[in-house]
Amino acid sequence: MAKTNNIKSLAAVFFVLLCSCGDKNTIPDKVNFTEHVAPILYNNCTICHRPGGSAHFSLVTYADAKGNAEAIAFTTREHLMPPWPADPHYTQFIGERLLSQRGIDVLQKWLQQGEQEGPQDKLPTLPKYLTGSAIGIPDMRIAVAPYFLKAYSNDRFLLVKVPFELPNDTFASVIEFIPGNKNVVHHVNGDLVKYEFDKKKDVFGGEKVVDMVEDTSIVKAFEKLGLPNDDGSYPVLKKSVVNYLPGVFAQKYANGIGGYFLPRKGVFLLNDLHYGFTSKEDVWDSSYINIFFSKTPPNRPVEEFQLGTWGVAPVEPDLIIQPNTIKRVRSHVVIQKDISVLTINPHMHLLGKSFKAYALQPNGDTIRLISIPRWDFNWQYFYTFKKMVKIPAGSTVVAEGVYDNTTANPNNPFSPPRLVRDNNGSMKATDEMFQFIITYLPYQPGDENISLDISN
Ligand code: HEC
Repeated sequence: MAKTNNIKSLAAVFFVLLCSCGDKNTIPDKVNFTEHVAPILYNNCTICHRPGGSAHFSLVTYADAKGNAEAIAFTTREHLMPPWPADPHYTQFIGERLLSQRGIDVLQKWLQQGEQEGPQDKLPTLPKYLTGSAIGIPDMRIAVAPYFLKAYSNDRFLLVKVPFELPNDTFASVIEFIPGNKNVVHHVNGDLVKYEFDKKKDVFGGEKVVDMVEDTSIVKAFEKLGLPNDDGSYPVLKKSVVNYLPGVFAQKYANGIGGYFLPRKGVFLLNDLHYGFTSKEDVWDSSYINIFFSKTPPNRPVEEFQLGTWGVAPVEPDLIIQPNTIKRVRSHVVIQKDISVLTINPHMHLLGKSFKAYALQPNGDTIRLISIPRWDFNWQYFYTFKKMVKIPAGSTVVAEGVYDNTTANPNNPFSPPRLVRDNNGSMKATDEMFQFIITYLPYQPGDENISLDISN
C-alpha cells in the first residue's frame, strides 16, 4: 500500500515538473478556441452545457462559444461558473467544480483577442457523457407517473406514489431520481415504504398523485394513494432514500458504505415532488427513478439529522425577516455520540446571503464543515467529504445563516421588499427556510481515513 502511494506521489511530482515547462500551465501569446479554449470548456462546462445537458445552452462548438464569449468571460471571472458556491479554502469536497486561475485568464484573453478559432484539426474530442444517469447503467428504471402542467401554472407540491414489485427481497447501493423536465422539476424528497409481503396484496392500486394544496390532511392523502396495509395498519417507512435538488447528482460512496434494503413489495413515496412556475408553454414531465442493485446488504446504512426548519434544533431567533433588513440566524445541537459525517446540505431560499457550519469540540477546537460566502439559490448541493469527518460526542454543531431582505439582493422576490418568514415550514421559494442536513454513520475507529470517492 505504502509502495503504491510512493509511486503515485513520484508520478505526481514528475507530472507537475513536465507540465510547468510545457504549455499546459502558461498562457499562450495568442489564444484560440480549438487549442486553448475548447479543452477548458470540455473539462469544466460541457457536462452541463451540451445538447441534452442541464443548462439551456451549449458550449460545444466554436459558434456556441463565440456567441457567448462575453458571458463566459464574465461568469468565470466572477466565479459564478462553473457553479460551486462553497469556499474551497474552508473545506474540500468530492466533485468540486472549480476552474483554475489559468483557465479563467485564458478565457478572458480569448475575448480580448477577438475570439480566434484556431486550427480545426486541433479540436479535442468531446468527453463521453452518461445519459439518463449520473452513475452508470441502472439495473432497473421505474417511471414516475407523467404529470401535465399548464402554461403559467404556479408551484405544485405533490405526493407521488411510485410502486414496484421485485422477485425477491434485495439490496440497492443507490437510488437515483432523474427529472424528466429540468426546467420545471424543482426538488424531490423521497421515502421508501416497505411492505411485509403478506400484508399487502396490490401495491399498484390507489391514486398515483395527490396535490397537497387540495388535500391538506396527510392521512387522507395516504389513503387516496392506497398506502396502508390491507388490514388498515401502516407499513414501515424509511425516510430520505431518493432526493433531488438543482445541481445534485446521486452519490455512490466507495468502500461499500451506504445502501438500502429493498423489499419485494414497496413504494417510493415522493414526499414531495415540487414543480416550479411554468412559462408560456404547457409541459409534460416524465421523470423516473433508477435503481442500482447490490449483492450485499448495506453493512453500514446511512443515518441523517437536520438542524433548523423541521429539524432537531430550532432556528434562533425565529425566521421572520423584516423588509429592508439583514437578518442573522443560527441553529445548534449537541452531538450525543461520535459520528462520521458523509454529506452535508445547507438549505435556504431566495433571501439567503451566506451560510456557514462548523462543530465546536468539547476541547474548544473547531471542525470546519462548510462556508458559502455568496449564497446561490440555484446550486444547493449535497456536499460529500473526500474522507469522513469525525465529530466527537459532546461537540456542538452550529449552522449560521444570513438573509438579505433589501433591494440590494437581486433575487429578492418582492419589490419593494416585504416581510418574509418561514410560514410553518412552507417550501415555497418565496417563503424562507433555514436547514442544515447531515448524513452520517455511527463512528468506528479509522473512519477518518476511509475515502468516499469512487473515482479513487
Ligand atoms: C453543473 C452544471 C454547470 C456547469 C458545470 C457549468 N454551468 Fe454554466 N450554467 C448552468 C446552468 C443551469 C445555467 C443557468 C442557465 C441555464 O439554465 O442554462 C448556467 C448559466 C451559464 C451562463 C449564462 C449566465 C447568464 O447570465 O445567463 C454562462 C455564460 C455559463 N453558464 C458559462 C459556463 C462556463 C464557461 C462553464 C465552465 C467553466 C460553466 N458554465 C459550467 C450549468 C452549469
